[in-house]
Amino acid sequence: MDKPFQHHPLRLRRSLLSVPASNARALEKSSSLACDGVIFDLEDSVAPEKKADARAALVAHFAALDRTVPQERIVRINAFSGREGPADLEAVIACGPDAVLLPKVEEPQDVLAVADWLAERGAEETPRLWAMIETPAAILNLAGIAAVGRTRGGRLDCLVLGLNDLRLATGIADMPGRPFLVPLLMQAIVAGRAFGLDMIDSVYNGFTELDVFAAECEQGRQMGFDGKMLIHPAQIGPANRAFGVADAALAEARAIAAAFALPENTGKGAINLNGRMVERLHLDQARRLIARAELITQKENRT
Ligand code: COA
Ligand code: MG
Repeated sequence: MDKPFQHHPLRLRRSLLSVPASNARALEKSSSLACDGVIFDLEDSVAPEKKADARAALVAHFAALDRTVPQERIVRINAFSGREGPADLEAVIACGPDAVLLPKVEEPQDVLAVADWLAERGAEETPRLWAMIETPAAILNLAGIAAVGRTRGGRLDCLVLGLNDLRLATGIADMPGRPFLVPLLMQAIVAGRAFGLDMIDSVYNGFTELDVFAAECEQGRQMGFDGKMLIHPAQIGPANRAFGVADAALAEARAIAAAFALPENTGKGAINLNGRMVERLHLDQARRLIARAELITQKENRT
């Protein structure tokens, strides 16, 4: 058996659509959409006076849910230390989602407190935990937060960048190409990858500017992100394409796998493939890409 590339199983997280739990129409629509995951939001897209109603609507939605729909289901709660957090977590227990997304995580304890709460409630493997990185303190504490992915049974799976809050708190300008944010995004990528976490790029607010959105998805993919958090169904197609597997990349991965399978290459660490050095680490990468492509095909055949 080959060693796993990461300690978490391979999952498609190309497109994660945020759906305000207070929006009945959006909730209803969410199950029919081709996004890899739905982030049911109890936090900032729900007005303070609507929080209790949104929780109740979410519990009702999950009770009637068709769980064979191939979507990962994540609930974003309000800060656990705040007024709404504990009631949100009770709703999470009633809903039984795959993961809980914690907003404005600033230090490891923000994640560990929820991990301990869930463990005390007997929630063993699921829900998993995801953390939003969206404050200056979170950027300063990235390594410590990401390291939680290796403690308490590794319940932390994923970091999600939140640039609206980060821009607000820092004054960093909202500019095409995100020049002053890219260094911070790259720090997050390195921290997350050091601890085997999946990495999700921030939302893009202009949901009618699909060309600009597609370019930002491509930039996110080049930086190393696995997918993007979305705010509107129109963003799903471009995100699935950008974070999917391009035909050329799949062909190259298959060529690498085939080359290493040749008898003359058994036992070789590095080989010449059409004038390029290819090592066994590229074989691992190629196998992972082929596995991702298979997951995408399976999903497309189901929907
Ligand atoms: N999830 C599911 N369905 C959505 C949706 C979403 N996030 N956003 C829009 N839709 C649906 C609408 O219900 C509408 O459906 P219908 O035509 O079948 O009735 C359709 O998509 C078109 O919507 P549109 O009129 O273009 O958008 P809108 O003006 O209704 O809403 C927003 C625009 C930005 C308010 C809305 O997209 C939204 O609330 N997005 C999520 C915000 C959020 O979660 N923020 C927190 C994370 S940053
Ligand atoms: Mg936020």
